[in-house]
Amino acid sequence: MSVLVIGSLIVDNTLYVEKIPKEGETIIAKSSLTSLGGKGANQAIAARLAGAQVNFIGCVGDDSEGNLYKNHLENYGISSSAIITSDLDPTGSAFISVDDKGENSIVVNSGANHALRPEHLDKHINLFKESKIMLLQLEVPMETITHACLLARSNDLSILINPSPWNSAFNADRFPCDVLILNEIEATQISGTSNMSESLESFREFGLDMIIITQGSDPTLFMIQSGEIMESIPPSVKTKDTVGAGDVFTGALASSLLEEKPVSESIHFANIAGSISVTKAGAQGATPTKKEIESFL
Ligand code: RIB
Repeated sequence: MSVLVIGSLIVDNTLYVEKIPKEGETIIAKSSLTSLGGKGANQAIAARLAGAQVNFIGCVGDDSEGNLYKNHLENYGISSSAIITSDLDPTGSAFISVDDKGENSIVVNSGANHALRPEHLDKHINLFKESKIMLLQLEVPMETITHACLLARSNDLSILINPSPWNSAFNADRFPCDVLILNEIEATQISGTSNMSESLESFREFGLDMIIITQGSDPTLFMIQSGEIMESIPPSVKTKDTVGAGDVFTGALASSLLEEKPVSESIHFANIAGSISVTKAGAQGATPTKKEIESFL
């Protein structure tokens, strides 16, 4: 059994700066990094490195970056046979600033990611049948995400959604899911309150198996189906670059849940994976292996 990830493939252009520039300001970067990212692919590689078998459905452009990305996935042991190539759009790109505290701001040019259509999923229904868990984010069209949920429901997959980047068209009723993974900003955007306990309370009506709110170096909060709210404290590390930390958390969590580890153990495992990832530059290049996570444990 595998984790099925449906989502984005993006080339990240990162500039390391002292401070994120203000509106109208021009600044000089200290260094730069071009690397492969996209929330979908970041989660897929995190799940794979954490030990899971991973299937991936996504879309790239008919360009050198698209080919590079397909080879890259194969090198990680993720088949590129369900990566669609769009003739009309370039491979997605992102422009990222990371400041001295490791905090980031990201602008994504979706490109081919927006050409991933519901019918592409139908052609790969076999991947739904051989997977146990599905991971989704919001960097591909909403109708494709809705369709993925319907296919996953009818094939008994557990659905984990990280609704990022936030889109007001998202609501947990329209996109049936079992586990919702949010950071503080997304939790505030959905619930309308920046108090995370109140935010969790407001999710009770969704009737999900679990809601998780990550808070960077502060405790990760999670509410299970019984309504009980618990927390898991991430290890304290020196932060260099937070890009993709949430994706690493989500991929590692899926891998641990696939192994049927208890929820609190899985969240602790994911917290460690996310924490290790912020100590290094980039998203996928900073993703730890299962061995690294376990030795940290
Ligand atoms: O979550 C980090 C990712 O967001 C980056 O890799 C970038 O591609 C954007 O999708």
